[in-house]
Amino acid sequence: MNPSVLDDIQKIKTIDKESMINFCTDSPKHYGKASELAEKIQVNYPKPDNIIVAGMGGSGIGGELIKDWARNKTYVPIEVNREYNLPAYAGKKTLVLLSSYSGDTEESLGAFLDALRRGCMIFCVSSGGALLEHADRLKVPFVRVPGGMPPRAALPYLFVPALLLMEKMELAKGAKEELSEALALLEKVCKDNAPEKQQKNNFSKTLALNIGQTAPVAYGFGFYRSVAMRFKQQFNENSKVPAKWEVFSELNHNEIVGWERADDLAKCFSAIFIRDKEEPVEINSRIEITKELMEQEGVKIFEVKAEGKSTLAKMLSTVCIFDFASNYLALLRGVDPTPVKTINYLKDTLKHNKVREKIIAELTKQS
Ligand code: PA5
Repeated sequence: MNPSVLDDIQKIKTIDKESMINFCTDSPKHYGKASELAEKIQVNYPKPDNIIVAGMGGSGIGGELIKDWARNKTYVPIEVNREYNLPAYAGKKTLVLLSSYSGDTEESLGAFLDALRRGCMIFCVSSGGALLEHADRLKVPFVRVPGGMPPRAALPYLFVPALLLMEKMELAKGAKEELSEALALLEKVCKDNAPEKQQKNNFSKTLALNIGQTAPVAYGFGFYRSVAMRFKQQFNENSKVPAKWEVFSELNHNEIVGWERADDLAKCFSAIFIRDKEEPVEINSRIEITKELMEQEGVKIFEVKAEGKSTLAKMLSTVCIFDFASNYLALLRGVDPTPVKTINYLKDTLKHNKVREKIIAELTKQS
């Protein structure tokens, strides 16, 4: 691994062929555009009894962020669905937020079909595909987001419309206000972690360098649960490394025992603890004890201190730091962060079972 690559803009451009790092740097702009798009959304649904966000991978993580953000704000339960069908309770009083960037993901189309059959209230977020084709035909409300991005880079477009819809439907307050704080903070975080900022003054580059040849593990708590989950996805897809995520205090009831006799395995991992100056005392003590135990076992330990005042600003700014770090680790490893060869191979190879074809045939029969 050659750290000098991190500060060599020409070298960065040759490895990051499809400019994934630019999507990070431009994320405040994309969040702004996504808010404008979301402002135009009109839905005439009554308040639901429950909400299901149906989406996979880069299109599902927005739902996890919403679920954590809204946990202390809404009385409506939120579930993220990653199955081909919906849970038994889904019905006419369920709001299903269908999220698929391509609009062609098999599981998401399956969930869409199930939601239609059960008469759920549906709202789709996508750049097109079979999802929007059928949503349009069946007069299901949707927002068409800009295409041509890797789904994980399109997080602003997949997350913000659903977030602001919560406020529009009077299911949770404060989304708009928190988003505006988050946007201002993101501008700063993007500048501080931009490729032009030298590694010695750049937190994300330093984090990537410290992770080096290890598999990173993110430890979150409370609303940072989904941030830790996003961390794992980004290190998998951008850096092309195995990564894990865990959450306090559950990890104190199993994960920590795994480090007891990790022996040489301990050297293969880096633990990244998400910290917050307002973390509750019970979590603070748990983090300190866990860090000590893991350090004794030889695991590399790092901390990321969340910035911001509101829940949303804290969540999105930490996501942004990890997004940058996962791209910088890709550069250090000499891999292009954008392509996801294995996901594409899997989706292509699955075609032979004709499941997607059957789902689309069923969707076509819906009227
Ligand atoms: O990041 C990715 O490319 C994946 O995780 C996709 O988001 C996932 O496969 C689902 O596809 P889509 O986002 O098009 O529904």
